[in-house]
Amino acid sequence: MGKASEAPNPVPQFPHLNHENDAAMTREYPAIWDTLRHESNVFGGNAAGWKVWYLLGFDDQREAFQKSDIFSSRVVSPFIEEKDQPSWIPLTLDPPEHQKYRRLLNPWFSEATAKEITPRVRERCVELIESFRAAGRCNLVADFARLYPTHIFMKIMGLPVEESGKFLGWIDELMHTGDAADPNRSLRLRAQQEIAQYLGELINLRRKDPRDDLVTYLTRAAVDDRLLTDMELLAISFLLYMAGLDTVAGMLTYIFRHLAENPSHRAKLRQHPESIPDAVEEFLRYYAIVTTARVVARDVDFAGCPMHAGDRVVLPTAASGRDPRQLAEAGKFMIDRPQNRHLSFGAGPHRCLGSHLARVELAVAIEEWHRRIPDYRIEPGAKITQHVAGVAGLDTLPLVWETNR
Ligand code: HEM
Repeated sequence: MGKASEAPNPVPQFPHLNHENDAAMTREYPAIWDTLRHESNVFGGNAAGWKVWYLLGFDDQREAFQKSDIFSSRVVSPFIEEKDQPSWIPLTLDPPEHQKYRRLLNPWFSEATAKEITPRVRERCVELIESFRAAGRCNLVADFARLYPTHIFMKIMGLPVEESGKFLGWIDELMHTGDAADPNRSLRLRAQQEIAQYLGELINLRRKDPRDDLVTYLTRAAVDDRLLTDMELLAISFLLYMAGLDTVAGMLTYIFRHLAENPSHRAKLRQHPESIPDAVEEFLRYYAIVTTARVVARDVDFAGCPMHAGDRVVLPTAASGRDPRQLAEAGKFMIDRPQNRHLSFGAGPHRCLGSHLARVELAVAIEEWHRRIPDYRIEPGAKITQHVAGVAGLDTLPLVWETNR
């Protein structure tokens, strides 16, 4: 199972590695996975006091994503004790329970639905670009990458767009705060409680005053012939909130840094907008933003590792996307790569619910931006940092361009 023969024996150990807080990881993500792979496609650690296995290869990762009977997603945060793991439905449920909830959400995020809402997505995208175009500068992260998917998502959920600042502040505290700034996790816990309180109130409100939105739909949805409980509604809304706000934003930061530094790639996408969907796949592969995890459900030898029940398995999708055994020149970004393979949206039962929406948002952003701002560069001297825990992204990206004024 899991290409055991290819793992070095013994499997290399990096006992102190916690990729979420590692300085080299934060500096060199995502290429750092190539450096680590030179050592091995699998390695072990125990930074949190329990065994953590890192699977970097495409085949091993895909198998781990697919086999929920061995790799349970009741743990998706590798460095947190199991009793403190969040409940994010449907992600933290294993089949067959998982499917009952996933089925309720699928119609809202299908390919057809994403297509249907594309004009609204485009409209919001253009409004945002126009709000700073004449200034000849923006901070891509704060002025565009975060607001754009947040507004779309809030509309789907039925949340007031005017409150997006509050939502983004919570996301910063919850998702972009490392152990150095928050050693006892109190900041993150507070943000989590505030989000839960807000969403709880929203759920109550929609029960009394129904609207045409996802939260109202969920208050009327049933599993096993009963309505969803408040806890279930909260766990679903919470996951959607995090997945909908932070992921597309993170991807956009890498895409626009790349295009700011590669004028020929910008020109190609501007002149041949029909090539944008393929370019989006290459961005998703090369700059994959999600590192997720599982807990081992029973003792097993997998990928050459003697895994025990309770061990954690880390799945960095940026590593599997760059596996040279899967793809020629995997360590190279190719804007016109003829065939692509990646696990950037995961695989198996938990494959990303929002992938169709995400692809639409990314393609529309690239197309509409380059129609209006064809040439731009990173502001000289800008200091660009990034966060890598869970969902990676740049913290800031100041861009400048010529205007006609
Ligand atoms: C570029 C953007 C995105 C990327 C790279 C991404 C990536 C992923 C990945 C890797 C997973 C699997 C996690 C695991 O198995 O542990 C996942 C699951 C999920 N994603 Fe996304 N995602 C993106 C955008 C979105 C959006 C826009 C939404 C929706 C609002 C969304 C909602 C979800 C949900 C609900 C799950 C859990 C599905 C389940 O458990 O059945 N994602 N995503």
